[in-house]
Amino acid sequence: MKSQLYGQPKYYEIAFSFINQKRQADLLEKFIKKFSDVEVKSVLDVACGPAPQLKEMAKRGYRAVGLDSSREMLNYLKSDSAKAGLKVETIRADMISFKLERKVDFAYIMMGSIIYVKNNQSFLSHLNSVANSLKSGGLYLIENLAINWADPNFFKPQSWTMKRAGIKVKTTYQILPKNSLKQIVTQVLKMEVNACGKKMAFIDEDDLKIIFPEEFKVLVDLNGRFEFVGFFERNKVKILQKASSNNIVLLRKK
Ligand SMILES: C[S@@+](CC[C@H](N)C(=O)[O-])C[C@H]1O[C@@H](n2cnc3c(N)ncnc32)[C@H](O)[C@@H]1O
Repeated sequence: MKSQLYGQPKYYEIAFSFINQKRQADLLEKFIKKFSDVEVKSVLDVACGPAPQLKEMAKRGYRAVGLDSSREMLNYLKSDSAKAGLKVETIRADMISFKLERKVDFAYIMMGSIIYVKNNQSFLSHLNSVANSLKSGGLYLIENLAINWADPNFFKPQSWTMKRAGIKVKTTYQILPKNSLKQIVTQVLKMEVNACGKKMAFIDEDDLKIIFPEEFKVLVDLNGRFEFVGFFERNKVKILQKASSNNIVLLRKK
């Protein structure tokens, strides 16, 4: 089913405008400096959306490539980056199976978007696509969804409101257990927009599979194309002894 939210890139961008793209790009560069075995001149943002981090990387001089399945998101990214005088290449594709014409040196997927691969088979296919698009020694950074099923707060709705240029967007995000044996949750994402008095609502409801940390390791091993570098917290480049609930997974292409 077509996403209501991802068809509204401008409102989506306002909803998530709390993202600090400079800090996130700094962190990406720290990972590159510490763990990449190749010099990084080009980067791929998988499931990029309006891609604040990618625009920041373009600003810093990297060849920037954004991949997303949403035409609206990519059109918005293209015109927005052109307005800012930035060059960003866009590719409309399903992240489960894609091919780049030119390999990149570094790839990343942010904000838990890896959940959209939906099942283990598709995750393995996704890893093959990323591996085929990445140079040997290049990193693939996955900012996984925060996972903590033991905490009842995990299933409570979160809500926040952001404003820009007369547009107010109230976003509500909730994850609900659907089938715990299959690790499937229902993700409900709602944007209530007030654009200078015009009120609109956009809702997405998806059944998605959470990949748990230990499962990541096993699947990466099974895929065989990447070396598992480690689990990290979201703001540090120190390898954790064990995964935390709020984790980044770092892989290096063999
Ligand atoms: C949560 S947004 C992430 C936006 C961006 N990475 C950020 O940090 O702001 C998820 C994005 O994934 C895209 N998406 C969902 N399923 C996808 C798929 N199978 N292949 C490619 N993109 C997908 C959506 O269109 C949307 O732009």
